[in-house]
Amino acid sequence: MVIDLYSTLQPLIFRLNPETAHSLAIWALKWGLAGFDRVPDPDILAVSLWGKKFPNPIGLAAGFDKDAEVPDAVLRLGFGFTEIGSVTPRPQQGNPTPRLFRLKADHGVINRMGFNNSGLGAARQQLESRHKKEGGCVGVNLGKNKDSPSAVDDYLAGVRELGPVADYLVVNVSSPNTPGLRELQGKQPLRLILSKVFKQLNELDLDSKPPVLLKVSPDLTDEDKSDIADVALEIGVDGLIATNTTTQRPLNLIGKKRDEIGGLSGAPLMQLSTSVLYDFYRLVGGKIPIIGVGGVTSGADAYTKIRAGAHLVQLYSALLYGGPQLVRRIKDDLATLLLRDGFKSVTHAVGADHL
Ligand SMILES: Cc1cc2nc3c(=O)[nH]c(=O)nc-3n(C[C@H](O)[C@H](O)[C@H](O)COP(=O)(O)O)c2cc1C
Repeated sequence: MVIDLYSTLQPLIFRLNPETAHSLAIWALKWGLAGFDRVPDPDILAVSLWGKKFPNPIGLAAGFDKDAEVPDAVLRLGFGFTEIGSVTPRPQQGNPTPRLFRLKADHGVINRMGFNNSGLGAARQQLESRHKKEGGCVGVNLGKNKDSPSAVDDYLAGVRELGPVADYLVVNVSSPNTPGLRELQGKQPLRLILSKVFKQLNELDLDSKPPVLLKVSPDLTDEDKSDIADVALEIGVDGLIATNTTTQRPLNLIGKKRDEIGGLSGAPLMQLSTSVLYDFYRLVGGKIPIIGVGGVTSGADAYTKIRAGAHLVQLYSALLYGGPQLVRRIKDDLATLLLRDGFKSVTHAVGADHL
């Protein structure tokens, strides 16, 4: 049972500044105080992908556990997988605070964290100490240092250092809070980065190579999307993650902090990120598995992402509003929706809206 204390504690938690609340959540997870989900997942939720078995398709998105401090505690909450990072080669502080804002009335979040993290060495230590011990899928999201002279070299350092301990790797070129990062989604830089990443991975001579995924922004033109899809197919990227946060501000936002600079996530991102996911599924002809992320707050949202073309789904912001017991609720509701519509498994429903 995941402890249902969160709804009682939420008013208190919301009095803390959001970063303090986040540190408290990491602390609670470290000490086993955030709860457990001991109910086995129903078979209908199991997904097999990249030669791995996921007990359910709901994962924790990058940015929560940046330094891989609590991957196993996150899995014990009932997530089917988790993604640590973004990790940059050297530790960096990120942007000045305040840099994380709740948009309570919209169930949204704005952040301009700027890849605050403890660097590749620290993440490696954390992941080595757990690697292969408990099972479960832990992806590693790679970023670049703000002051790095070479983005390519930063991603290659990430592959060398964390490739051996990652269940999958993510090339993150889509965070809005590192100047110039999103320009790396252009055809030429993307082709260069991805081809070198695959070359580096091959040179590592690992028994099993982690799949390499590319995380994209929701703020892309049609031409950008089609270029990215072409490069992804050409290079043979193993997966896409759609999407990161948006710099757009929907006109119907009412939260007081809506004009803060940074990336918007949570409920107000659901429609935009799902339409980008839908576009990518079509552009790659369903040939590259996609993780759908952005604004998932319910089983119905997760189901919408799957029908739009997602094999797996992630969330982060909804946890602020729903607490850890949300994961169980989403899984139960998703299983009910799949059964209702006659799907034998998650995989059978992937891309159903394109038929
Ligand atoms: C505080 C915060 C920090 C984040 N940091 C990262 C990050 O370091 N790397 C990354 O790829 N995405 C990062 N994200 C984006 C999430 O992984 C996710 O793509 C986005 O928040 C949309 O999902 P959501 O609406 O469920 O939160 C961050 C999001 C938030 C809210």
